[in-house]
Amino acid sequence: MAELVDRFGRKIEYLRLSVTDRCDFRCFYCIPKGFNEFSDRGDQLTLDECVRLVRVFSEMGVGRVRFTGGEPLVRRDIVEMVRRIGAMPNIHDLSMSTNASQLARCASEIRAAGVERLNVSLDTLDPETFRQITQGDLSRVLDGLMAAKSAGFRPIKINMVVMRDLNMHEVGDMVDFCLEHRFTLRFIETMPVGEAGVSARDRYVSLSEIREMLEQRFELEPARMTGAGPAKYLKVVGGRLKIGFITPMSQHFCEDCNRVRLSSEGTLYLCLGQGDKLEFRPLLRGGVDDDELKGHILEAIERKPEKHEFDTKPGQVVRVMSMTGG
Ligand code: 5AD
Ligand code: SF4
Repeated sequence: MAELVDRFGRKIEYLRLSVTDRCDFRCFYCIPKGFNEFSDRGDQLTLDECVRLVRVFSEMGVGRVRFTGGEPLVRRDIVEMVRRIGAMPNIHDLSMSTNASQLARCASEIRAAGVERLNVSLDTLDPETFRQITQGDLSRVLDGLMAAKSAGFRPIKINMVVMRDLNMHEVGDMVDFCLEHRFTLRFIETMPVGEAGVSARDRYVSLSEIREMLEQRFELEPARMTGAGPAKYLKVVGGRLKIGFITPMSQHFCEDCNRVRLSSEGTLYLCLGQGDKLEFRPLLRGGVDDDELKGHILEAIERKPEKHEFDTKPGQVVRVMSMTGG
């Protein structure tokens, strides 16, 4: 089997599948103000096209798939897609990143279709601040989270983008919330991806500052987490809460990168912070066979960049985050 190993010896075994670039929220750090250039339906990969690409990747050593967006649950055929991908023999880990707004309706269905692990974006527990960040409704998200808890996802991780003068003071409250519900908590630094990401730059907080804040209240020790990826985990001594720190800016983790990203329009992005890509849609619609697809994938992986350059070239990536997910 042709394995996917890049020029830097990194094995690619994880695919992030953005199933739609649309979202029912408008987080200011993700989608630029007034943005209205979401992809046309006809340009989105169909269910069969997505499933075929994932199968081909799975035959090349990709065993883990994350469904992301935009908001993956706004795609109508998402349950069917999860089911078909989950049934592939080489796929052993299915996860989803969601804003939870639709989970009250479909948490058990998604769980039954095969998603085990869930990441939920939640930056604040204050309804006003929530509206300010997302233009959405916090109560729907909290209802969705509780439905996810009942549906038995494990783990459920809360992803909090920490921002100065906005939600930074809620870090302690979020710890209490996650302790109470047995969620894992992860803090994320804002990244200057696209116009929206760049506009959030003045709210950037290095997570070392957050760690110091927490250490005044809790005794923390290193923790292990399976499938940790880029997050570094600590746990509260004597407790079960795990806290992850995702620091793309202050301590990048590119040397361990194991992933590529497929956009809903069928573009494979080799790095979140670079433009390098492979367009699958014309290939798929032009009738390539599986072996040719594999050839294109191998050639693309050869071009995977060594690292992002957010520090030296902020704003270099002009695409909107909701095209590729985080
Ligand atoms: N910086 C950091 N994370 C971002 N996300 C979107 N835009 C940005 C950004 N500019 C991530 C967040 C959010 C997820 C959906 O995408 O983690 O929770
Ligand atoms: Fe939607 Fe997530 Fe982007 Fe917010 S960050 S607008 S929830 S895709």
